[in-house]
Amino acid sequence: MSMKTKILNPIDLQDPNNQMMLKQALISGSLVVFPTETVYGIGGYATLDKAASSIYTAKGRPKDNPLIVHLAHFDQIEKYAYIDQPAVYTLAKAFWPGPMTLILRKKDTISTSITGGLSTVAIRIPSHPIARTLLEATDLPIAAPSANSPGKPSATTVEHVLNDFDGKVDFIINGGDATIGLESTVIDMTSEIPIILRPGSITQVMIEQTLQQLVLDQSETLINDIPKAPGMKYRHYAPAAMLHVVKGQSTNIKAYLQKQLKRDPSIAILGPSDIITLLSDGILFDLGPLDDLNKIAFNLFSAFRQLDQLEIKEAYIVAIPKIGLGKAIMNRIMKAANHSVIDTD
Ligand code: TXA
Ligand code: MG
Repeated sequence: MSMKTKILNPIDLQDPNNQMMLKQALISGSLVVFPTETVYGIGGYATLDKAASSIYTAKGRPKDNPLIVHLAHFDQIEKYAYIDQPAVYTLAKAFWPGPMTLILRKKDTISTSITGGLSTVAIRIPSHPIARTLLEATDLPIAAPSANSPGKPSATTVEHVLNDFDGKVDFIINGGDATIGLESTVIDMTSEIPIILRPGSITQVMIEQTLQQLVLDQSETLINDIPKAPGMKYRHYAPAAMLHVVKGQSTNIKAYLQKQLKRDPSIAILGPSDIITLLSDGILFDLGPLDDLNKIAFNLFSAFRQLDQLEIKEAYIVAIPKIGLGKAIMNRIMKAANHSVIDTD
């Protein structure tokens, strides 16, 4: 399926005529790819079944994998979901607008066609100025999964978006680079104890400190072989290259990687500057220093895409400590490596 995609720039979005045009387009079922502070999303009018099914088609996404509904303001939530506990208000106050998604019991206004048949709905109020302008100007709930075609990591730059979606959606809003580069933290608020279903830049410690209570992280837990966030069960982006995670003490990692480089100079190595700068030649991807995890998070998905562009056959990625944002980064790395880990200690 191919169509003419209209590319809009941030300045175009300020024009009330364009805002009206986008609203009408969404109401009639069009899709709009837009930037958020985490990654780009493919947006459609959340309460329109036709838009939902176009999203699943454009993205090649299984129907049982639910979508996140994006809203401009907290007071819109009660139209779509029940707020069962005060902790929802506390988290909303602390982290919205921002990179957090809350799972709530859905109301009948939300069709199960966007919740993968579940009785709950994922809600997020993003902070990116373009996402906010789109949500405020159209005054519509916008369902949007991360913008990536199957087998690719979530798009964090407009180049990624154009690669994956030019000709497949009605509009792409060019917002440059996403700021964070990893998808939002998903928290299930339907039971008494909040449960993290997908780690992100809002970390477990931040959530616990805000709520003054312990929360669970079940992002790696399987219940009857099924993760609680349906999306986590699908094989995630894995580069065409065989990717292995390398862990251990720096000196051991360095020795191991040097041996691999000697064996086969065509391998690629990804990792924090702290290790990469210790290596001499080879195809090296410096993701950023360990004391700047934001930078590593931001560079990760672009580096994965480059592996495929360079047609790398074998690659190694250095593990980073699962502390703070490190947990979300390692969650994405382990998925990309299909859990292949080499312990050099
Ligand atoms: O940062 C983000 O969250 C980006 C931007 C565009 O907002 N969106 C995003 O959407 O990452 P997506 O569809 O790629 O990931 C949504 C995740 C999936 O793992 C999905 O299974 C889970 O949230 N999810 C959605 N609704 C759910 C529900 N009702 N119960 C449990 N998990 C749910
Ligand atoms: Mg996704």
